[in-house]
Amino acid sequence: MHTRLLHTDEIDEAAELLKRGELVAFPTETVYGLGGNGLDARSAEKIYAAKGRPSDNPLILHVASTEMLEDIAEEVPELAHTLMTEFWPGGLTLVLKKKSIVPDASTGGLTTVAVRMPAHPVALELIAACGFPLAAPSANKSGRPSPTRAEHVIEDLDGEIAAILNAGPTRIGMESTVLDLSGEHPAILRFGAVTEEELRNFIPNLQSPTDEQRKRAPGTRYRHYSPNAKVTIVPLGELPENHLEKEGRTAYIGYEPCDAAEKYHLENDARDYAKQLFALLRKADHDKVDHILVQAIDEAGLGAAVMDRLRRAAGQLN
Ligand code: TXA
Ligand code: MG
Repeated sequence: MHTRLLHTDEIDEAAELLKRGELVAFPTETVYGLGGNGLDARSAEKIYAAKGRPSDNPLILHVASTEMLEDIAEEVPELAHTLMTEFWPGGLTLVLKKKSIVPDASTGGLTTVAVRMPAHPVALELIAACGFPLAAPSANKSGRPSPTRAEHVIEDLDGEIAAILNAGPTRIGMESTVLDLSGEHPAILRFGAVTEEELRNFIPNLQSPTDEQRKRAPGTRYRHYSPNAKVTIVPLGELPENHLEKEGRTAYIGYEPCDAAEKYHLENDARDYAKQLFALLRKADHDKVDHILVQAIDEAGLGAAVMDRLRRAAGQLN
């Protein structure tokens, strides 16, 4: 299949492809998504095949209006309305009980559906032009770092999807926060663009997920965000130099100096890490290094999401 590279003035073409059941990667403010018709089981199956993703790992449905949300979610609790008012459009995904119109293929057979309204004009226009919610996981091959540029999507999925809508680098660079509102207590299933601190202002009793809830975000179980080179984290307060391997070439990512073969500087700032981390993990592979050494940052705010991804890339979490 030839993958077309579309520009932001070709949203109608992208919508036509999606209406025909094809897959189109599109930009959001977090990462690029691999979009398909969220109400069509065949489109969902195509997404799993293209990504090489286990089909029990459910997809997020992206909406452009609260009406679209009401079409797919069975119960929308008061708290969901409050959070949507506060954080939508934006990097917060809500897990709610699903309506039967949502095919099991999109939710990995779960009785819940994850929904988000992205804060990117191109994404919103595309969803509205389709008239149905877009199922969209991050547009990378399963296990690889999430794509923050159209070039990353080409790297992973060229020849396997109908088109890629290119709108340049994404603004935030970390995926959305996944919040489960379908159980007895609200729980964060994945740290992301909206911080725990921000959520606590509206959910004082925000819990750590129970094992049962953790199982409901199966995506967090698999190997993730992994470049080919081995990733090592420099713990806070330790010298990067002391963690350099003796053999092989190392790419160093951090804010303090370190004498490695490749050096990619980041500010000591979670937003800078979030924006650039995935792209730098991919760059390290292009630079053909054996090791990637990444300096840790403080876990406050967006730092929680950054360190979560980093630990997964380093194989420290399963
Ligand atoms: O920022 C984002 O969220 C990006 C952009 C494209 O919107 N999308 C994204 O999708 O990161 P994906 O598929 O890579 O990650 C979705 C996460 C997975 O961990 C999945 O298990 C979880 O959300 N999830 C989806 N539906 C769920 C459900 N019904 N219950 C629990 N977890 C769910
Ligand atoms: Mg993903």
